[in-house]
Amino acid sequence: MPGGAVLSRPADVERVEAPVTMKAYLMCAFAAFGGIFFGYDSGYISGVLGMPHFIEQYEGLDRHNTPPDQFVVASSRKSLIVSILSAGTFFGALIAGDLADWFGRRTTIICGCLIFIVGVVLQTAANALGLLVAGRLIAGFGIGFVSAIIVLYMSEIAPRKVRGAIVSGYQFCITIGLMLASCVDYGTQNRPDTGAYRIPIALQMLWAVILAIGLFLLPESPRFYIRKGQKEKAREVLARIRGQPADSEFVELELNEIDANNQYEMQAMPQGGYFTTWLSCFQGSLWHPNSNLRRTILGTSLQMMQQWTGVNFIFYFGTTFFKQLGTIQDPFLLSMITTIVNVLSTPFSFYAIEKLGRRPLLLWGALGMVICQFIVAIIGVTDGGNPKAISAMIAFICIYIFFFASTWGPGAWVVIGEIYPLPIRSRGVGLSTASNWLWNCIIAVITPYMVDTDKGNLGAKVFFIWGGLCTCAFVYTYFLVPETKGLTLEQVDKMMEETTPRTSAKWKPHGTFAAEIGLGGEKDNQPTVTQQEV
Ligand code: BGC
Repeated sequence: MPGGAVLSRPADVERVEAPVTMKAYLMCAFAAFGGIFFGYDSGYISGVLGMPHFIEQYEGLDRHNTPPDQFVVASSRKSLIVSILSAGTFFGALIAGDLADWFGRRTTIICGCLIFIVGVVLQTAANALGLLVAGRLIAGFGIGFVSAIIVLYMSEIAPRKVRGAIVSGYQFCITIGLMLASCVDYGTQNRPDTGAYRIPIALQMLWAVILAIGLFLLPESPRFYIRKGQKEKAREVLARIRGQPADSEFVELELNEIDANNQYEMQAMPQGGYFTTWLSCFQGSLWHPNSNLRRTILGTSLQMMQQWTGVNFIFYFGTTFFKQLGTIQDPFLLSMITTIVNVLSTPFSFYAIEKLGRRPLLLWGALGMVICQFIVAIIGVTDGGNPKAISAMIAFICIYIFFFASTWGPGAWVVIGEIYPLPIRSRGVGLSTASNWLWNCIIAVITPYMVDTDKGNLGAKVFFIWGGLCTCAFVYTYFLVPETKGLTLEQVDKMMEETTPRTSAKWKPHGTFAAEIGLGGEKDNQPTVTQQEV
C-alpha cells in the first residue's frame, strides 16, 4: 500500500455525495433480494431430509416395514447432501471475484442465477443420489456467485450514509429465506407424493428468476467501469444511481474521487499476470493495519467469527437439539419460531448500524451472545431436566438469536463490503464470502459429532463452546475491527491508512484522493447543497 500522506487541507469532503433518492433505495433494496437464495437454500434441506418420501426415494426403505429409528437418511449420505452445497458455494465465491472484475458485477450475479437454476432443475428431476448431489454442487456454485457479488454490488452502489442499513437488508432477506424454507417444508411435508420434497426444491427457481430479471434492469456498478478505465460509462451509471444529471457536480466529484482512489491504489499493485495480481490480496505486512494482507485476513476472519457464533447450530440442528431437551411437544414448531425471531430482530440493525456504528454493534452483539450462551449452558448442566429451566433455556436461545440477527448477522456482511480498496475489492469480498461458507460447512460437519447422543453427547454443554467462541469474537472486534460508518468507500480506504482499529471511530474525512493526485475535487469544486436538499 502506498504510504498515504496526511493532507492538511480540510476539504469539505462531507459533501461529496448527492442526496439519497428513493430510486437509490429501491435499487439497493432489490439487490438485497439475493439473500433469499442464500437463506432458503440453507434452510430447506434439513426439513427435506426428514421427509418420508425423500427417505424412501434415496434410501430405498419402506416406511411401513422399517422401525422408525432406522427410517432415516444414513449419516454419510446426509453429510454428503448437506455439505456438497457449501463446497460448491466456496468455489463459486472464490471464482466470482475475478468474473465480477472481467464481466461486471451485474453479469456475474445474473450468471450465478442461471447456473443456480440448472442445479435446481437437476435436483428437482433427480431420482438417484448422483444427480441430486451434482445438482446441489452446481446450485452451490451459483449461490457462491450471488452471495459474494451481491454484497460487493450493494456496497458499491449504495449511498454512504445508508450503506450499512442497505447491506443489512441483504441479511434480512437471508433470514426471510430461512423462514420461508421452514414454512414451505412444514406445508408440503405431508403430501402423499414426491411433491413433498420436490416442491420445496423447485420453488427456489422463482427467486433466481426474479433476481436475474431485476438485475438485468438495474445499472452496473460505476466502480466496475472505473476499474476498466471507462470513465464515461461510469458517469452514466453513477448519474442513474444517484438520480442526478450526468453533468451534475455531485456526479463529477464522486466520480473523480472513485477514479483517483483507483489510480492511487493501482500504483501499489504488482503488475503482472493473473497469479501476481491474485497475490496482491496477500501483499504487505501483517502488522500494518492497512496492508492488503491485513484486510484480507480481517474479511475472512470476520466471516469465520460470524460462523463461530454458533448460530447455525440452531438453524441446522435446532430441531434435534430441542428434541433432546425432552418435554418439548413440537420441536419443528420451535425451530420455526427461532427463524421468525431471526427475521423480526434483523430490522433493528438497519437503524443501529448507522446510528451506533459497526464496531459498537459487533462488540455489544458479541457480549449479548456470550451472556445468553453461558446462561443456557449453566442452566443446562445444573437443572436441565426441569420444564421451567427448559423454558428459560429456550427464552435465552431466542434472545441470543436476537443479538445475532441484529448485530453479527448483518455486521459481518456490511464490513466485508467496505474494507477492501477497489483493485482487490471483488476478490477480497469473494474470499471473505468463501470463508463464510467454509466455516459454515466445517461447523455443519463437526457439530453432530459433538452433540449426538451416540457421539460426544454434549447436549446443552455445547453452549459453553459457543460462549467461548463468542468471547473470542468480542476480543477480536475490540482489537481488529475498524469503524467504517458514514464514510465513502474511498474514505474508508484513507481512514484505514491513517488509523488503527481502536482509533478509527474518531477519524474525520479531511482530504480527497482527487485533490491529492490533481484530478479536481478541490474545495472550491464542492457543489452547494441547500439544507432542503440534504
Ligand atoms: C449467516 C448464515 C446464517 C444466517 C442466519 C447469515 O449472515 O452467514 O450462516 O445462517 O445469517 O440468519
